[in-house]
Amino acid sequence: MTNYEDIFKKIISHCKEYGYVFQSSEIYDGLAAAYDYGPNGVELKNNIKQYWWKSMVNMHENIVGIDSSIFMHSKTWEASGHKDAFNDPLVDNRDSKKRYRADMLIEDHISKIEDKIAKECLKAAKRFGDSFNKEEFISTNNRVLERQKKIDDISNEMNLALNSNNLEKLKKIIEENDIKCPVSGTNNWTDVRQFNLMFKTQMGATADASSDLYLRPETAQGIFVNFLNVQKTARMKVPFGIAQIGKAFRNEIVARQFIFRMREFEQMEMQFFIRPGEEEKWYNYWKDVRMKWHLSLNLGDENYRFHDHENLAHYANAATDIEFKFPFGFKELEGIHSRTDFDLKAHQKHSGKKLQYFDSEIEKSYVPYVIETSIGLDRMFLTILSNSFKEEELENGESRIVLKIPSFLAPIKAAVLPLTKKDGMPQKAREIMQKLQSNFNCQYEEKDSIGKRYRRQDAIGTPYCITVDHQTLEDNTVTLRDRDVMSQCRVDIQKLNSIISEKVNLANYLE
Ligand code: GAP
Repeated sequence: MTNYEDIFKKIISHCKEYGYVFQSSEIYDGLAAAYDYGPNGVELKNNIKQYWWKSMVNMHENIVGIDSSIFMHSKTWEASGHKDAFNDPLVDNRDSKKRYRADMLIEDHISKIEDKIAKECLKAAKRFGDSFNKEEFISTNNRVLERQKKIDDISNEMNLALNSNNLEKLKKIIEENDIKCPVSGTNNWTDVRQFNLMFKTQMGATADASSDLYLRPETAQGIFVNFLNVQKTARMKVPFGIAQIGKAFRNEIVARQFIFRMREFEQMEMQFFIRPGEEEKWYNYWKDVRMKWHLSLNLGDENYRFHDHENLAHYANAATDIEFKFPFGFKELEGIHSRTDFDLKAHQKHSGKKLQYFDSEIEKSYVPYVIETSIGLDRMFLTILSNSFKEEELENGESRIVLKIPSFLAPIKAAVLPLTKKDGMPQKAREIMQKLQSNFNCQYEEKDSIGKRYRRQDAIGTPYCITVDHQTLEDNTVTLRDRDVMSQCRVDIQKLNSIISEKVNLANYLE
């Protein structure tokens, strides 16, 4: 098992053991690509939502929020293009009966060639020692150049095939490169077919086509169809944004990597309505703002990068991903899309209702253009968890697992721990709980030795432990232990609120 697989497995089992994430319907052997959030998971999820909502909606005078329904008129998805174009190319292996996304099979093949280049570099670095110049090696070594050319050729062909919807060409790329099924090891493939990712259901008792409904594959359309309602009632002036957080559903062909790719997930999306012609300016503006939002969490600047799209979605004329270095490599965390006036114009056409804005500054009516920021809440959750999970060797030879979650996002902010169950310590600890509970999510724990309780709170990611001991009963002071550095200091009970809030309050962080 590779190191990253090992770490990722540990994170997944840690999530289960400490009440973060459970497999859905586990007692029935689970449901693929669906997960439930446990007591700590739901707190972390809510804190991430609050952080996003406050920074996107409350801190921007020109952005407001909505909460639209998951069920929408089925014409919505005709207008948005999802009914015709929200497809992934799928291919089956006849021997293993496993189903794959054709583009992912090809991308995995490209990754293998990239790995070979990385290995050549490592070997050369060992051979040449200090005098090794990686850039020079990559640009001159014949084997590396050949491999890089192969990667470029395959990528270009794949992008052309995807952009022109050429499924035969995709199959040809798989055959020509002798790409094999990872399970059966054979290249006995079916033809590549399109597979629509929307879940279909029906509303009401009658089962004719007019009652067909789709579970929304993105929250964005709930914003577009409410564009005029919001603009008029909230008296918004272009440029302005509408944000929403909610569930989205996609019948992913290959759902894997834990909560990274699920069939039911949550999105935090914002559509920013602008004057036509200003899309480049606002696209760059939101790229910058969103990257800063991520970097401010201090999860390591080197773990983020932009990846501009070559295969654009049917609605976009420019798009980039903010990628994060997950344990399994750099992958999409957030998308920023220049959606032009595609959606509003399409809804205008399909509904017969005007969706225009009168811009009094230039005395003109127009259909606004849109820049979208769209982040998966579950992927943000995984970003934070996978980055915070640390196995540390301690000076006394012991080790600990600690979740160094940014303090203002931690599920539990402080644990109140009476040293023993005797001498009035539990009562004193409960008094402290009562004082703190209305400000922070706190946990009271009296079972097990104090050392074990510290380790448990480290594993949950609780920034502070407050220990009540004999001295507390005499002078109203407690021991305050810091999760990250494990330092302990004596603090007056009256000061606990302000000390903790300085570190864990979202408001302080946003300021
Ligand atoms: N409204 C635009 C839109 O939905 P997208 O790139 O398809 O764009 C946006 O999705 C974000 O939603 C992604 O960056 C990702 O974080 C999240 N996302 C998409 N599919 C997902 C899935 N199957 N499971 C978890 N998150 C997903």
